[in-house]
Amino acid sequence: MPHLPSRRLDRRSRALTPCLAALLILTAAGSGCTDGTSDNDSSGGDAKRTPKELFVDSCATCHGVDGRGDGPMAAELRVKPINLRLLKQENGGTFPTREVQRSIDGRAMPRAHGLPKMPVWGRQWIRQGLSEAEVQARSIAITSYIASIQD
Ligand code: HEC
Repeated sequence: MPHLPSRRLDRRSRALTPCLAALLILTAAGSGCTDGTSDNDSSGGDAKRTPKELFVDSCATCHGVDGRGDGPMAAELRVKPINLRLLKQENGGTFPTREVQRSIDGRAMPRAHGLPKMPVWGRQWIRQGLSEAEVQARSIAITSYIASIQD
């Protein structure tokens, strides 16, 4: 067989490289790298998942399952993930719902002042095929979970 479809394979493996880099950083966060055609159902289906499951999927690698900032990846990070259980205390006893939602989404955050290491979930989830409404719903669900685990 002289004509193997090697060009296609080449293109694929080249396209995969930045993906793999992203995967190394984010796989365990459940975000992975998807072009919207994979079977990995990260878009939709949120209604069947609890806020806790959504949190564990996207956040626990860095912030830990309990939100204490001690996820398996935390040790590798120069800027440490924060302890999400202290947000209420640190905000004078009121859980800062809007700010948390905005931090998760990330797209409206001024990068220069804000969160250099937090993934921009709004962008990430849109890329994975979620609609704007689904991104909002997921941010709200995850925020409600974080609110429920305040110390
Ligand atoms: C790749 C590691 C990583 C993942 C995954 C991650 N975070 Fe973070 N997060 C951080 C780091 C590091 C910080 C500290 C601030 C920064 O980025 O400099 C942070 C900060 C935060 C903050 C504080 C924002 C503020 O205003 O101070 C919130 C809230 C937060 N993360 C929520 C989440 C939620 C919810 C998820 C899942 C949807 C998540 N994080 C996933 C690394 C991560």
